[in-house]
Amino acid sequence: LAHATQALLAKISSDPVKVEDFKELAKLALPKVYYDFYAGGAEDEHTLRDNIQAFQRITIRPRVLVDVSQIDTSTTILGYPISSPILVAPTAAHKLAFPEGELATARAAAAAKTIMVLSFSSTFSIEEVASSCNAVRFFQLYIFKRRDVSRQLLQRAERYGYKAVVLTVDSPRLGRREHDIKNKMIAVPEKNLEGLITIDVTSDQGSQFESFANKTLDASLRWEDIQWLKSITTLPILIKGILTHEDATKAVEAGVDGIIVSNHGARQLDFAPATVTVLEEVVHAVKGKVPVLLDGGVRRGTDVFKALALGAQAVLIGRPVLYGLAAKGEEGVRTVLEMLKNELETSMALSGCPSIKDISRSHVRMQCDKL
Ligand code: FNR
Repeated sequence: LAHATQALLAKISSDPVKVEDFKELAKLALPKVYYDFYAGGAEDEHTLRDNIQAFQRITIRPRVLVDVSQIDTSTTILGYPISSPILVAPTAAHKLAFPEGELATARAAAAAKTIMVLSFSSTFSIEEVASSCNAVRFFQLYIFKRRDVSRQLLQRAERYGYKAVVLTVDSPRLGRREHDIKNKMIAVPEKNLEGLITIDVTSDQGSQFESFANKTLDASLRWEDIQWLKSITTLPILIKGILTHEDATKAVEAGVDGIIVSNHGARQLDFAPATVTVLEEVVHAVKGKVPVLLDGGVRRGTDVFKALALGAQAVLIGRPVLYGLAAKGEEGVRTVLEMLKNELETSMALSGCPSIKDISRSHVRMQCDKL
């Protein structure tokens, strides 16, 4: 039935021309409780709106009479070549959007020649996603109260060829997502803790994601614990959820291999800053020692361009992937990734930047910049 509805929707709705069009299609395609889970943010959703609006406050300073007859959006992350600096962020429970869930997302990321970060709360196992395509994949991890669970997950990811671990550090407890509280969003059976933590999308018991997460996440984690993670893996570690220069400096000192400036898609602390407003602060603190990536509110190729101009090596997208998946399955995700890449290409051509390395700080103006 879900397939039939999606096929019908795909037919009746006009073809999407921009990434945000997929949000509308997803809203039509999904039950309200799932749409709210994907779309919602914490509390009053101030940060949720600002993640988008902050990009809109930045203007681009285009340069003309540069040879832009050939545009190259390709780049590398941790040495892995990708077709554009746009990665798939780790997001939970893709099966809620589409029956093939993360398998479809992984195939779409592979087709777009980019990297998917698999969420620890994937609805397909580490192994299943690994065997669905042979592209480069990263694995997102939390350090749980049960350290053995984190270790086992990591070992499985290593065994199945995931190339980096993305350690999310902005969730000592779950933010208050009030739509989910109202909707009594999804049960998560604790027995699954032994394996990959899968969200049980079939349950209607009403036991909340929030109370599950708060039971399992370790709120006592400190910087010293990064050393523990380093001691149990040889994979490079990207730390996700950094928003200040103080923590960026500590992350570099702790020996991480990369930093993701992220406020968890505004689902954790409301009134955390919009990510693009603190990107430069982090980039300056890091002084080029490790790559800095950004996610949160990236919806246009111009947003990608702005993030790169402010020093990000790449961006990740969360909700647009889920919306693409909900609207049109694997093809939807591929289209979302292609749209953003094509828009980035146009932005680069119209700004006088034939390649990624040509995009510089002088190509954008923030409101705080002196004229
Ligand atoms: C997330 N995000 C997230 N992050 C993470 O580290 N582990 C996770 O399991 C999840 N799950 C998750 C579910 C949903 C529904 C959303 C929307 C987000 C955060 C995600 O990785 C990323 O930081 C944001 O989604 C980026 O913001 P945009 O692109 O959604 O605006």
